[in-house]
Order: sequence, then C-alpha cells, then structure tokens
Amino acid sequence: MKALILAGGAGTRLRPITHTRAKQLVPVANKPILFYGLEAIASAGIKQVGIIVGDTADEVRAAVGDGSAWGLEVTYLPQDAPLGLAHCVLIAKDFLGEDDFVMYLGDNMLRQSLQGFVDTFEAARVAARNPTLGGGASDAPAAQILLKHVPDPHRFGVAELDGLGRVVRLVEKPADPPSDLALVGVYLFDARIHDAVAAISPSPRGELEITDAIQWLIDHGYGVNSDILEGWWIDTGKLTPLLEANRLILETIEQRLDGDVDEESRIDGRVVVEAGARIERSTVRGPAVIGAGTVVRDSFVGPFSAVGANCRIERSEIEHSVLLGETSVVDAGRIEDSLLGYHVSVGRSDQRPRATRLMLGDHCNVDLA
Ligand code: G1P
Repeated sequence: MKALILAGGAGTRLRPITHTRAKQLVPVANKPILFYGLEAIASAGIKQVGIIVGDTADEVRAAVGDGSAWGLEVTYLPQDAPLGLAHCVLIAKDFLGEDDFVMYLGDNMLRQSLQGFVDTFEAARVAARNPTLGGGASDAPAAQILLKHVPDPHRFGVAELDGLGRVVRLVEKPADPPSDLALVGVYLFDARIHDAVAAISPSPRGELEITDAIQWLIDHGYGVNSDILEGWWIDTGKLTPLLEANRLILETIEQRLDGDVDEESRIDGRVVVEAGARIERSTVRGPAVIGAGTVVRDSFVGPFSAVGANCRIERSEIEHSVLLGETSVVDAGRIEDSLLGYHVSVGRSDQRPRATRLMLGDHCNVDLA
C-alpha cells in the first residue's frame, strides 16, 4: 500500500494567508496541517508516499524533505495546474503502479487513525481473493470511501446510499444534496481507479473530479465500500474550520513549560511554552501554545490560542486566535477569533488625527470592535 498526498491547489478560500504560502502548511496548534496527515500515514504502516505539489512546491519540499523525519520515503510529483483531484491520480500513475493506495487531501484533518480504514479495505480484498470464503477477485472492492454526516453537504462531494448502506451515487457539491453524507478527503483505491480517471471528463468547474471517477467505478459494476466516520473531520481550507481544528487539537495537548515564566505570571491549565519563549507579568490560560522565541508581556493569552514562533504580545489580550509567527500585537486591546499571518504588526499610536490606519493586502478581512 502506498499513499498519495495532495498538496497542490491554490487555497483561494484562505486568502490572504495563502497568497504567500501553501494552505497545507498553515499551522494548527503550531504544527503544519500537512504534518498531521504524514503522521497518520506513517502510523498506518505506509512507507512510500507521493506528494502532488503545485505552485508552492518549493515550500512543501523545504518543510517535508525526504520524509525521513516520519520514517517515510517521499517522491514529489509536480502538477502544472490545479486540474482536479482525479488529475492528480492521472499524473501519479507511474509512481503508484499496480499498488493499492490511500489518497489523502493535504488540507484535511481527522481524529480517527487510518489504520482501521486501511485494514478493512485490505481484509475485504483478501476475502475476495480467497475461494474458500466464496469470493473471486472481481468481488474485491475497487475503492473505499469515508463519509461524515455534516450540516452543510452542498460544500462537499455527497454520497447517496441504498437501504443496505451501499454507495449508489456520488455528486460533487450539489445544490440539492441527496443526503447529509459528505465525502471525507481520504480515499482508498486499487489500480482500477486509473481506468476511471482516464475515462472521465472535466466537471463544470473545469476539474477532473475524484467524485466522478468513483461514480465511474460504481457505474462499471466495481464495488465501492464506505465507512461513516465517527470522530471529527475538518477540511481546513477556510478560517472558521481552521480555528475549529486549532481548538480540537489544542484540546489534546498536555502542559509543558520549556520556556521562561516569571514569578509575576500565571499559567492556567494545559499550556505549552516552547523553549526560548518568555512570559512576563502575564496570564496564559490553556489550552494554548506559545511558540519558541515569543515574548508575552503584560498581556493575557486565553484559551484556544496558538501563538507561533518569534511573536511579541504586549499590553494586549488574545483569545481563540492563531498567530502564525514573527508577528507583533502591542497595545491592541482584545483580539478574538482571529488569524494573523507572518510578519503582521497590530499596534496603536498617538498620532493625530485619531484614526484607524490600515495597510491590508488583498482579500483581508477586518472586523472593528
Ligand atoms: C474536495 C472534493 C470533495 C470532498 C472535499 C473534502 O473538495 O472534491 O468531494 O468532499 O474535497 O475535503 P474541494 O476541496 O476540492 O472543494
């Protein structure tokens, strides 16, 4: 079994952050989203990983390297333009060969481990190959998909099941969803998917949809199994889900104070202060993480905040927010529900006339108190 991780795409729904960086490398609880996927793949016992990269290839390569940090062997597969998830399979054909593989969208995060999911697929395929169990190779499922009940299915690929729980139809982002079961961005395939991705045509959004390729398998009589995911799953490509992912991961951290906390400061609950960070005359209430080299002075950092490396927070309050790094927040009052990129500066001045002075890039969003 191999893995194919998709880390291309434009990340338009996370602009302006993704003007300058890959959406899969935006950190959640101070760790790039993509690393959670790599960890999940490694702990499912998979070694050979192909990573599809686009415009942000250099950044992804710099972050992941040869994969040895996770015990993986990574091969980079460049995609010239974001032509769809099924197009990624098309260009990965030589890398994948005849092997089964898990396809993992690099901006998806899920709580459940991949192991059970991989085991079920392999077990169904072994049973199909074993005549004593009454199977034949053609009965082996060609794909296994993961589904999740969601309140907003029109944002995803949606599955329709029959009375026995078999997948009968898949539609991509339907205006009128046939169910509330969204396709999670983790799929298992055998080599028959290569025929499917070669046979389909681009969708109205101009992409080769993996949803259509799976539908092709169904239409050709190949088995497509499904599992309904119990734990949380987040497609992190937008601000609200990103903050939600941050919250869910922060829920799982334990206290670790490797940095300096002075005597006038208070640390409440599950807080990580990385080595080289300094907390002075401040309160940090967990769950929260403070990155290496960051200084928090005369401030409050509240629950569900992830402050990246080398930030400066002075005379300000921050809660339920993500600061990516190298960012300063000084005399800023109280900031909540916010995402600040790298090298951002939020401050106050006595300059007259009194006014809010902004320099914002494209696609920024400001909500004044
Ligand atoms: C893609 C798939 C969609 C799936 C989703 C999961 O959507 O096309 O079927 O439900 O990922 O994250 P996209 O992120 O390309 O809009």
